[in-house]
Amino acid sequence: MALSIGYNKIKTAVFISGTGSNLKSLIKFSKLKNSPISITLIISDNSKAKGLNFGKIFKIRKKIINFKNKNFAEKKVQIELERNQINLICLAGFMKIISKNFIKNFKGKILNIHPSLLPKYKGLNTHQRAIANKEKFSGCTVHYVTSKLDSGKIILQKKVRIIKNETKTSLAKKILKQEHKLYPEAILKIF
Ligand code: GRF
Repeated sequence: MALSIGYNKIKTAVFISGTGSNLKSLIKFSKLKNSPISITLIISDNSKAKGLNFGKIFKIRKKIINFKNKNFAEKKVQIELERNQINLICLAGFMKIISKNFIKNFKGKILNIHPSLLPKYKGLNTHQRAIANKEKFSGCTVHYVTSKLDSGKIILQKKVRIIKNETKTSLAKKILKQEHKLYPEAILKIF
């Protein structure tokens, strides 16, 4: 596998709140020679996020920012982004909704991964809702972030089949596996 040290790559910040399995897959992808990004900052709103460990393992700068006061938090995020010359934000399981103003300042440079086939099942509890509605398929979507929740332009999607007796846990697991491939593919598609 060809590795690259990351000069001239797009400096990317990944925002997380929890496990960070998408963060891990993005970090691995960023180290490939053909990857256009290098991940130089991890932002978490949750000091207990398991994903923060990947910052330690891969020696990436981490910043925990308390979002109780969103305005103040976003100002702090903005400072970090400038300090680290960030040009792309990948939301990966980040559970806070970012403000219109913040998005405006970073227009066209924020991506998100969502565990459904958007425009279906925006918001939370996607797997439960897809199963309850007897969908035959669900999946995941990488899209640009705009001020309307989970509604920005779709970059790429992957479909998975919902089988008989599927549970929200089994479906989440299946979709997550596809998410780990989809995010890098979507980044390759746009850069
Ligand atoms: C993923 O399913 C993502 O689509 C959703 O939250 C989950 C995060 O998982 N927004 P992880 O933290 O990347 O493991």
